[in-house]
Amino acid sequence: MNTNYGSIHSLDTKMTSTAHSIRLIAILFLLAVAVNWQYGFSSTYLNTPVDQFKEYLNESLGGDMSEGTYNLWWDLIQNIWFVGFFIGIFLNPVLNDRLGRRYGMMIANSFILIASIMQFLAVLLYIPILLIIGRAIASTFTAVAFQAVVLYLQESPPTHIRGTASFLSEISFALFTIEGTMLGTDELLGNNLPWLTASVIPICAFSVVILFFVPETSKFLLMSGADRSVVEHSVRFFHGPDANVATILKETEIEIAEEAISSTWSSILDLVRIPHLRKALILAVCCLQNCVALWTFIYNSTLFLEDINIDSGIAKWAATAMCVSYFVCTVIGGTFVDRWGRRKILIPFSYMNVACIAVFTLFSQLQKLQDFWKYFGVATLILFAGSYGCGVGAISWFISSELTPIKYRTLMQSACYGINTVSVVISTFVVLPFYFWIGTYCFLILYCLPSAFALIYITRNLPETRGREIHDIVNELRG
Ligand SMILES: *[C@@H]1O[C@H](CO)[C@@H](O)[C@H](O)[C@H]1NC(C)=O
Repeated sequence: MNTNYGSIHSLDTKMTSTAHSIRLIAILFLLAVAVNWQYGFSSTYLNTPVDQFKEYLNESLGGDMSEGTYNLWWDLIQNIWFVGFFIGIFLNPVLNDRLGRRYGMMIANSFILIASIMQFLAVLLYIPILLIIGRAIASTFTAVAFQAVVLYLQESPPTHIRGTASFLSEISFALFTIEGTMLGTDELLGNNLPWLTASVIPICAFSVVILFFVPETSKFLLMSGADRSVVEHSVRFFHGPDANVATILKETEIEIAEEAISSTWSSILDLVRIPHLRKALILAVCCLQNCVALWTFIYNSTLFLEDINIDSGIAKWAATAMCVSYFVCTVIGGTFVDRWGRRKILIPFSYMNVACIAVFTLFSQLQKLQDFWKYFGVATLILFAGSYGCGVGAISWFISSELTPIKYRTLMQSACYGINTVSVVISTFVVLPFYFWIGTYCFLILYCLPSAFALIYITRNLPETRGREIHDIVNELRG
């Protein structure tokens, strides 16, 4: 779009093109907020007001709840999220591919709205089973909506800002995990569970309404054989009124023409059978492997830090500092990703991320010899969250879409997110028993070792995707 810097006319075009980029980023940010406000909130709001939820359960169950019953209910309420999310991952090809990104997201967000009302009523009327059902529905469709938003951010913007646009999902998610955590404190809504759960309902309503104003991505429209006028309207909406529609659509046409696909479910085998898809799958799974450790450290940082003799006030403060550092760094990463490229951000920050875990292990052992090493431990965890935010997180979640032609894209997402979820569940399940057994050395085995192997593969095979059309990237993978 910004060619010919010479003439006054093109200077004008360049200005409107910048203004247009800003407008587009704002629209896409709203779309990301529509999904991730609820997602970030739901992932975190249970963590702070634990005592209030215990009282709520006790009262709901008639006031004579035993510790055992409590543990059962609490585990169910928390973990139903991951079960639902896992199921939702595989609805992606059905909803976002058959019906499209827009209708897939609209349906998902409508279910999430209903689920958020259910959770509010569950708290208000003391019906905990409704809370579980509500969370199950919300998590299932959050997986659908999350994948849809990644597709939107990948497919709708002009290529030169695709990276920044794709970071918006991680940026908004990071922001609303902070919101969910803060809102649950006693000073805000922690002591008022009905208000706490109600707070997200208007946002869920907004997330349905916004989709009436945002068109389907032109790439999907083209693939599904929509009317030319509808496709062109979408291109102009996302690329600006002066966009060169023919050129833009041509790139997508090449991408579509190069792949033949039979039917959704039989083509899942193609992901392992066709060499360039297999390579994309391994690359994406390797990238996501580096994301496994973050939640263990964010949720358990207080425990890990108190064990190295940090007092609980500082440990709680450090947990917040980690979230803030994560958020701030997503903004920094999003700013530079289209200038520096994916490899230059993802690879160094991933190495740094793994190194932080190893160094934290080292400091926690040194602390046994000399106490002051514990402060280096705190600093390392904050650095760990920051390096994750800068590049590891965001890029890993969208790289599968960037490496895969549109016909296989939702399937690829489902496959690698699914594999990643299994990996997360296994590591979350074993990390604490391991930790109590061999101490911080468990991080080396559970996180550093797999990540190191993944990183070697990524360093050798990941193509630079910045500023390139998808068909061009896929061709490089074909080798
Ligand atoms: C539930 O409430 C009763 C009455 O206040 C109390 O005796 C009991 O310990 C509570 N149960 C739990 C698990 O806190």
